[in-house]
Amino acid sequence: EDLQFAAQAIHEADTTVAMTGAGVSTASGIPDFRGEDGLWERHDPDDFHVSRLDRDPGGFWRDRLTLHDAVYGDDIEPNAAHEALAALESTNHLDRVVTQNIDGLHAAAGSEGVVTIHGSGERAVCRDCGRRVPAEPVRERARDGELPPRCEECGGVLKPGVVLFGEPLPEHALSEAHALAERADVFLVAGSSLTVEPAASLPRTAADRGATMVLVNLERTPLSDRAEYDFRADVTDVLPRLHEAVVTG
Ligand code: OAD
Ligand code: ZN
Repeated sequence: EDLQFAAQAIHEADTTVAMTGAGVSTASGIPDFRGEDGLWERHDPDDFHVSRLDRDPGGFWRDRLTLHDAVYGDDIEPNAAHEALAALESTNHLDRVVTQNIDGLHAAAGSEGVVTIHGSGERAVCRDCGRRVPAEPVRERARDGELPPRCEECGGVLKPGVVLFGEPLPEHALSEAHALAERADVFLVAGSSLTVEPAASLPRTAADRGATMVLVNLERTPLSDRAEYDFRADVTDVLPRLHEAVVTG
């Protein structure tokens, strides 16, 4: 079976790198962006463009809070997909998780040194002085009517610590992710539509360097044709079985 062969490739690899997208967190209750019933069916991505923050910071934060509070309940927890990746890592079959997600669930599941190429929802950052502060108190201030919330140091407008449309990716995380893609013998992509650059260039880079590509996604992706293994299935089903097959294989 294909799952056995993919597991064997991981078993034999010196370096296996996983890249995840919103699809690994849907089972935790967080909607994805472009899947069925995704966020971009209900919200306009342009509202979350960095130029909107500059033009209309109060409106940006109001919409951002609406989105945030609709998406993140109080008790968001890692699911079987996050746990399987953490387990693969703790049994030394996975070197690193690179994620486009900002929800912190890989770290919560026990993955170490997660490379967060789209930033983190746990911080906010000042547009003017670059100061980074915990995000939840900032959201709380915004909920209380401080629109936009401002830096307590310099008065600059605060920005969520996530990468907005129109912003470059954090240089350090991106170069780390690229180095991992170049080193990978197996590159596993889980729960991503692979439609957003430069994230989608990472599996391409890995494949160009000869890595075995394993995709796990409900839908077809633009890289499906290049994948040795293309599992069109639920990550919470495939990843635990893959982990099981790797450790017993
Ligand atoms: P997308 O929403 O584009 O893709 C998620 C994919 O996961 C879809 O193809 C779904 O079909 C699939 N999916 C959903 N649930 C699944 C499940 N349980 N098992 C398997 N597959 C499942 O999300 P990303 O690829 O992560 O950027 O999107 C990339 C970026 O676009 C995000 O990081 C975000 C967004 O704009 C920023 O915020 C900067
Ligand atoms: Zn500041």
